[in-house]
Formats: sequence, structure tokens, C-alpha cells
Amino acid sequence: MPLFYNALEAAAHRLSIVPPMFDYFGAMGLHAIVAAARTGLFDALRERPSTGAELATALTLDPHATGVLLHALTGLGYLRVRNGRYRLTRTSRRWLTTGSPASLLPGLTFWERTATTIWPGLEKAIRDGAPATPFYASLQNDPELSRSFHAWTAAMAARQAPATARAIPVPRAARRLLDVGGGHGLFSLALLRRRPRLHATVIDLPDALASAAAHPRLTSRAGSFLEDDLGGGYDVVLLFNIVHGLSDEEAGLLLRRVAAALRPGGVVVVGDQFGDSLMPGRASRTLLHLLDLNYLVAVGGRVRGLDEVSVLLRAAGFGRIRHRRPLGSPTTELAIAHKPHH
Ligand SMILES: C[S@@+](CC[C@H](N)C(=O)[O-])C[C@H]1O[C@@H](n2cnc3c(N)ncnc32)[C@H](O)[C@@H]1O
Repeated sequence: MPLFYNALEAAAHRLSIVPPMFDYFGAMGLHAIVAAARTGLFDALRERPSTGAELATALTLDPHATGVLLHALTGLGYLRVRNGRYRLTRTSRRWLTTGSPASLLPGLTFWERTATTIWPGLEKAIRDGAPATPFYASLQNDPELSRSFHAWTAAMAARQAPATARAIPVPRAARRLLDVGGGHGLFSLALLRRRPRLHATVIDLPDALASAAAHPRLTSRAGSFLEDDLGGGYDVVLLFNIVHGLSDEEAGLLLRRVAAALRPGGVVVVGDQFGDSLMPGRASRTLLHLLDLNYLVAVGGRVRGLDEVSVLLRAAGFGRIRHRRPLGSPTTELAIAHKPHH
């Protein structure tokens, strides 16, 4: 919500003269974005600034309702209006139009469902300490949600993979890479492009592999990384956005399995949000705490600090732990560790 209080509004909120309605209305902002994206309003305005009536005619929408939505989107900071014509702001052009390299639209259904079907389970998750329905299990029978979730992770990965690949120390002699829960395969793909003799195996649940990248040196295997054979003799193992979805017990088990699958001296790379090294500021901290709640309610996981990830890595036998935060990878930091030679 690119919406900033003026001094009077900020004072009214600080003195609690007005109720904290933005938390109630925040969900409405999400639905306004979803409606605008699905009816084609954002994409139509990318083509040309238009009046509400022009948009309603072009997109066969109700003229009054379209006007109300346009007003709300203007208030939220997604549109600007001059002489009755609406135009996109920099925010909506970059993040909410089809085809923009930074578009958030592939994950629209995933985030809509997160708000409408997953978060209503928060109270129960807080009482029980675990989600009512494990997210990844529910994806196996829900193709629409699965498609949107994996399209979202692929869109995030596409932007960050080149920078993470540059930061990962893949030895020149390395031949075998395992991408645990690698889904779309884009992090592997970026490394395959840098190392022409490297071969990658992605292990993931069946629904995730439906839209996996194709490459002659990339093999996809359907299976559970907690239960099925991971293979052995790998030079490098990637665990990207995996550990945050696991309990400490599961993470410990997975890291021990990874250690067994690596050759001596091999490298494990944990890519995740570490939480103790993010952009300073209360808004960033709040986003991270909400993400932590999201991992709790959706998958029974959590945001861990680099220190906590390091403890898990050491307990599984890894050493020489280093932290990397590639500039081009704002939401995926790296903890790189080595399996000892002996
Ligand atoms: C948050 S996504 C991360 C995808 C990718 N690594 C990335 O960073 O973009 C988590 C992935 O783990 C997979 N996954 C979850 N539980 C799994 C399990 N038990 N076995 C194999 N894959 C699993 C999901 O299907 C999903 O593709």
C-alpha cells in the first residue's frame, strides 16, 4: 500500500484519535488490486491514460463501479488522475502490469488465497502451534493454487538467480549439483550457465515439477526430500527457500540427509530470509514479522536468523559457514557451508 500519512493524519493516529482501521481495510486493498488486475484495468492503463467511462466501455465493466474502484486505487497510490484521465503510478506500472520484469501478477491467486483461506486459520494455528492444513499437501489437489504459487516462486527466482549464482562458490571441477525443493529449477539453471560441465538434479513434489525449466543437463525427480533417496556424491547442494518451511526437527533431519548426500569437502547453500540482517526500519521489521506469521500459519515454519541457521548447519556437521547477501537478490540471502574433508 504505497500510502503515506500527512502530518495531521500521523498525529491523529499517534494520539489514537482515529481507530486503526488500515489493518481492517488492508485486506480490501488487496481485493482492489486483484479486481483491477483481473479486469485488465492496470494493463489497459499501461497502454494509455483513460477516463473511467473509456475503461468501462473498453473492458465491458459497469461504469459506476469502475469509477469507484478507480477512486480507491488512486487513494491507495496505484493511480493518478489529471483532467479526469487516470494513469498508472510508477508502483503499479512496475509491479502490477503483465510483462513487467518485476510483475507480481503471477502470484495473484496465491496471495489472494493466502488472505482468504489460509490466514483465517491463524487463531487455530496460534492455539495449536501448527497450521490446520499443511500448505504443500493442499497444493497436490488444487491445481489453480499450485500453478499460481509455483509461478510466484519462479518469478521471484528469475529476478534473483543470476546474482545468487555469481555469489555461490561452485568449484571448477564440480560435476554434480542437487537442488532440494528446487521446483522451477531456475537457481540451478543459472549455475548450469556458469559451469558447462555441471549437471543438476532437482527433487521436488510432483505438482512443483509440472512447470520446471527444461535444460539438457537438468534432471527433475519427483519425491520428498525428507523421505526419499537423495542420491549421493554431490559437489553442491542448494536449499533455497526450504528451511523456513520446516520445524527445527525437520530442518535438522534434512541437513543431515544433505550432509550424507554430499561428497567430503562439498558445499551446501541455504538461501532464505535470515531476519537479522535486513533493511533497517520499523516497516521492514514489521513485514518480516508478518512473513514469520505467514510461515507459521501456512507451513508450520519460521523465519530464522543467520545465527540460528548456523547452529542447525553445525549440528549437521557443516563448517566454514559464510554469509552472502548479493545486491541483486533482495529476498534471498545465502549461508554457505562446507562438509569437512574427513
Ligand atoms: C518456497 S518453495 C521454493 C522453491 C525454490 N527452491 C525457490 O527458492 O524458488 C518450496 C519448495 O519446496 C517444495 N517442497 C515442499 N515440501 C517438500 C518435500 N517434502 N519434498 C520435496 N519438495 C518439497 C515445494 O513443492 C516448493 O517447490
